[in-house]
Amino acid sequence: MIDAAHTPNLGSVVAVRGSVVDAAFDVRLPPVNSVLRTGPDDRMVIEVLAQLDARRVRGIALTTTQGLARGMVVRDTGEPLRSPVGKAIISRMFDVFGDPIDRMPAPGPVAWRDSDHAPPTLAERSTKSEVFETGIKAIDVLIPLERGGKAGLFGGAGVGKTVLLTEMIHNMLGHEKGISVFCGIGERCREGEELYSAMKAADVLKNMVMVYGQMNEPPGSRFRVGNTALTICEYFRDDEHRDVLFLVDNIFRFIQAGMEVSGLLGQMPSRMGYQPTMGTELSGLEERVANTLHGSITSIQAVYVPADDLTDPAAVHVFSHLSASIVLSRKRASEGLYPAIELLQSSSKMATRAIVGDAHYELAQAVRKTLARYEDLKDIISMLGMEQLSPDDRLAAGRARRLQRFLTQPFFATEQFTGIKGKTVSLKDSLDGCERILRDEYKDYPESALYMIGAISEAKKPEPAPKPQPPKAAAAVAAKGASGAPPKEAKAAAPQAEPAQAPAVPAAPKAAEAAPGPRAPQGAPKPPPSA
Ligand SMILES: Nc1ncnc2c1ncn2[C@@H]1O[C@H](COP(=O)(O)OP(=O)(O)OP(=O)(O)O)[C@@H](O)[C@H]1O
Ligand SMILES: [Mg+2]
Repeated sequence: MIDAAHTPNLGSVVAVRGSVVDAAFDVRLPPVNSVLRTGPDDRMVIEVLAQLDARRVRGIALTTTQGLARGMVVRDTGEPLRSPVGKAIISRMFDVFGDPIDRMPAPGPVAWRDSDHAPPTLAERSTKSEVFETGIKAIDVLIPLERGGKAGLFGGAGVGKTVLLTEMIHNMLGHEKGISVFCGIGERCREGEELYSAMKAADVLKNMVMVYGQMNEPPGSRFRVGNTALTICEYFRDDEHRDVLFLVDNIFRFIQAGMEVSGLLGQMPSRMGYQPTMGTELSGLEERVANTLHGSITSIQAVYVPADDLTDPAAVHVFSHLSASIVLSRKRASEGLYPAIELLQSSSKMATRAIVGDAHYELAQAVRKTLARYEDLKDIISMLGMEQLSPDDRLAAGRARRLQRFLTQPFFATEQFTGIKGKTVSLKDSLDGCERILRDEYKDYPESALYMIGAISEAKKPEPAPKPQPPKAAAAVAAKGASGAPPKEAKAAAPQAEPAQAPAVPAAPKAAEAAPGPRAPQGAPKPPPSA
């Protein structure tokens, strides 16, 4: 390396095709993964991906190639991509090269380490099974996360992945002694800036490092930025022996960047257009997220699911690396049930009797069963209405709907636009709430009383005077029974008979932008035809 520094290894650009650059070297051919620099002020960076023949290498540009031309001089730096590590990087924001992007001077004394690094060997790994509390009811009760594990937030566009991730950062940073490394891959630049400002305002930046390769960056940069962030995580784990929280938004963009690189290099695509090397590339990144005897890396990753299709090869590959998967769905979001977690599709390997304990396990199973039963009943309800259910089924449906409402939660991350104060709920309170709903303690409460609250004690008592029967007309009609009530009166009577059940969707008076508005009328008219 010292040699290379003294006698610069120079070559020249022989071809430029978008981000793919070929360079010829007469003396020494740069090895794969070494970094080449070219352009004005050495500003353009190229990573070597292949040696084409005895003289030429092919690389991918990690910066824009605008202005790059054949014949321009290329300098082999003799080094791979490297990341800065050390105490001075804390509370700073970097790009894929480890250059600060927070408009502040370069950090103090830092060491530089190779970004590409093998994952720890089997012998170096450690496993412990400890639950990681998030303060979010639905997750802590049904999908407990693992300390030192990997959790994925799956969902299509705009279902709340970033919001949920931000909320988790918010809830955890206060309590965790460890350090967080946030890696933004291929998402909006605006979100990066917003998160930075939010973290700064909340005074948690002092325990955080951010690394960004957002959607404005070329594919090579988005493909490599994860490695930069992981090198920083590994430093904190191995050198400082701290527990690290590694957050990624969005791991799908890493796969997508790999697909672009692969396509640019002219490789044959595999299934659904993905690169044939997707599995290897993803493992290379995910396997580095590991626990050793020195410390742990807990990772939470947002995973964009193309076209809401969970069988998409990218989603399937990510699934296989995770210890917990939280599936967010458009349906829940459209019902205003935020966080829009599809409770029955989400799972965690921590949700076992041995880890969470008998009481929690049994309660979680009971909640799942109740929700599953309601799913089965939904078809009948949509065709015939709640009234046609047996009393037992009707109670179960009521329980499930109350559980669904109770498992919504106002977030700190959304305070500005929902106007509802964010809440964290302890596991004990969450379990207690679910248990009491299952015991039917809240069956006389309107469903909306449980919507967007924290602990169950916040549920408001039902109105003191729920008038059981309207005065004359409807009573007379009811007495006549089968005499064929005119539809107008039946319609009037139905909602009063079941005041709590009427809205098919959470009566969400507060969350004005949530969808219940347009849907609620659909629910109300349904009962009459069946009557
Ligand atoms: N918990 C929540 N409470 C209220 N509104 C929410 C919540 N979560 C998400 N939303 C609404 O959904 C919108 C999109 O959320 P978010 O940006 O997190 O989606 P995303 O899944 O990250 O989308 P993308 O794939 O585009 O990045 C938010 O702007 C907000 O209006
Ligand atoms: Mg997002």
